[in-house]
Amino acid sequence: MKPYVVAIDGPAGAGKSTLAKRLAKELKIAYIDTGAMYRACALFAIESGINPKVDSPKLRALLSDAELDFRTVKGEQHIFLNNVDVSREIREPHISTGASDISALPFVRDLLVSKQREMAQGKSVLMDGRDIGTNVFPDAEIKIFLTAQVEERAKRRFLELQQKGDSSSFDTVLSEMIARDEQDKKRAYAPLKQAEDAQLIDTTDLNPEESFEALLSHIQNQLDTLS
Ligand code: DC
Repeated sequence: MKPYVVAIDGPAGAGKSTLAKRLAKELKIAYIDTGAMYRACALFAIESGINPKVDSPKLRALLSDAELDFRTVKGEQHIFLNNVDVSREIREPHISTGASDISALPFVRDLLVSKQREMAQGKSVLMDGRDIGTNVFPDAEIKIFLTAQVEERAKRRFLELQQKGDSSSFDTVLSEMIARDEQDKKRAYAPLKQAEDAQLIDTTDLNPEESFEALLSHIQNQLDTLS
């Protein structure tokens, strides 16, 4: 079969990363977590004392020198920034907001989108994010828009943070998620949007196993039509 792209987009906390990782393993194709790339850029800016919201010469210089790559560590995909594993740090709540801020800057998107296209060259990939089906790979063979009601997404994120020992309240998680979704949807350049030819999958009433099965069966049906 020719290399193909599976694009999974959707708002924060819809379960994209967890499901995408599992699906890519099942399909035996590469997985690229594009959110981790925006998060690593935000982390680099914030740690360097540079405002991730503003397009500045300092931010441009910093990011043009940044080395970003994914490596497999103990069977799991980790993201490295300038040869340092930052996979844990990029999941902190203030980095989620910083990633949404920095992702609104057109030069940052252009930089990362070209890296994402390069990473997918010549092989089948499953990529998740906000603009994969609309902008990064508008011709992707399979497109899914994964969503769930915001209260349910916030509940899942709240439980995940609690397990990590984070003490954020449910109300804080919910209001940060609403703010981030709004910012991601309203930005002028490549906003979060369902591609016209994407399959909408709502996981509000599905458990993780049911969500996985729903996505896998859609992908397999689509793959059957390709071969
Ligand atoms: O998927 P995530 O929560 O790790 O993404 C973090 C932020 O990065 C998200 O709020 C918006 C931005 N993002 C984006 O603009 N485009 C992508 N393809 C992926 C993420």
